[in-house]
Amino acid sequence: MAQTNATPTAAIRGPALTFTGDPFKDGIESTMRYESDAIVAFGDGVITHFGAADKVKSELPAGLQVREYGPDSLISAGFLDSHVHFPQTPMIAAFGEQLLDWLNKYTFPTERKYADKAFASSVARVFLDECLKNGITTSCVYCTVFPQSVDALFEEAERLGMRIAAGKVLMNRNAPDYLLDTTQSGYDDSKALIRKWHGRGRIMYAITPRFAPTSTDDQLQSAGELWSEFPDCYMQTHVSENVDEVAWVKSLFPDRKGYLDVYDHHKLCRPRAVFGHGIHLTDEELHTMHSTGSAISHCPTSNFFLGSGYLDVFRAMDPSRPARVGLGTDLGAGTSFSILLTLNEAYKAAQLNGKKLTAAHAYYLATRGTAHAMYIDDKVGSLAPGMEADIVVLDMKSTPIIDYRMQFVEDIHEALFVQMTLGDDRAVQATYVAGTLRHERHGD
Ligand code: GUN
Ligand code: ZN
Repeated sequence: MAQTNATPTAAIRGPALTFTGDPFKDGIESTMRYESDAIVAFGDGVITHFGAADKVKSELPAGLQVREYGPDSLISAGFLDSHVHFPQTPMIAAFGEQLLDWLNKYTFPTERKYADKAFASSVARVFLDECLKNGITTSCVYCTVFPQSVDALFEEAERLGMRIAAGKVLMNRNAPDYLLDTTQSGYDDSKALIRKWHGRGRIMYAITPRFAPTSTDDQLQSAGELWSEFPDCYMQTHVSENVDEVAWVKSLFPDRKGYLDVYDHHKLCRPRAVFGHGIHLTDEELHTMHSTGSAISHCPTSNFFLGSGYLDVFRAMDPSRPARVGLGTDLGAGTSFSILLTLNEAYKAAQLNGKKLTAAHAYYLATRGTAHAMYIDDKVGSLAPGMEADIVVLDMKSTPIIDYRMQFVEDIHEALFVQMTLGDDRAVQATYVAGTLRHERHGD
């Protein structure tokens, strides 16, 4: 973790939760840190102090104002969303289809509208505002095939100072003509966007072949070549989400061992690769995820909504060959911007796999775990000096029924579980981006 010489210019106080390591690997005891009364101080966009209030108080410059959130709050690192489609914001809750029909019937016609930059900018504003209302400070985002949709999102993210990864969708077949690029134009447009945006402030570029069926081998190869020219970018795509999709990939790429091998063959499996879903991956494919340092984005609200299935997170993260796993909303197939609600569904996915996702494991996934999956756990995802000051403050009594239920809670684990089972955007009291207050909830 980066150390800091920054001087604190603001501080907040309240109960706080963070992770110093991975509970899936090392257990909860040694990785979860809960302070019943903590101070987090920050300056120049980074955390300068974090710890028990009594101790930190004496270390702060005289006269520094400390904002008190009170005992019914919880301070945490901002949430991360490792898989989301901002252009699908206007089509969340599209009725009745599974993946491939859903794409044709709803998604592609919606994404056509993003040829219009002004429209794209208007949606980007709504999208990022909604992220902040839900405590999400970092996302890995699909734009559309139109480069101007990437500009629209990054311009707004830059204005807000958010650490956002995003990219232009590459898609040269099996979609309507109005959404297709070519191998060459996709490469050229992506390269120009990387040069313009990647590493500018907190902006990160993600090379984005939509999924194997909508790219030829030639385009996937070109994506791999572009990535090798800019290896510190991300690469994001979808894999093994739906059984019909898996069968389609088999018929489109008969020479490959399986779905993931299509990407591996084109050098698209390595650190900073983020694969949406991965529900139906084989043990061998999970081993490839592990050995190549690739990540899976677990998107339970989407998986239930489209009837795709339910990822076994514990199998994916099996300590004998752990794949990196982050959490994703996958809007607009996902049904909520709320990370608490997404954890609620992740719990149910685990139940259907006969496993128990504890609140500690769940909050780890929503913060440091997703930062780890994205290789930015040295920057965001936990509370510690030197980390970027992306912070969410939860209200632990945000609705009458949660307030009532909290009377019967015996420890922090139960309290966290109540929040992820009953909570939603109303539980997000405040969101700080690089130390700047960007959302504050007022009333209902
Ligand atoms: N696979 C290819 N494109 C998409 C998409 O937009 N959403 C989801 N959930 N899966 C996809
Ligand atoms: Zn997706």
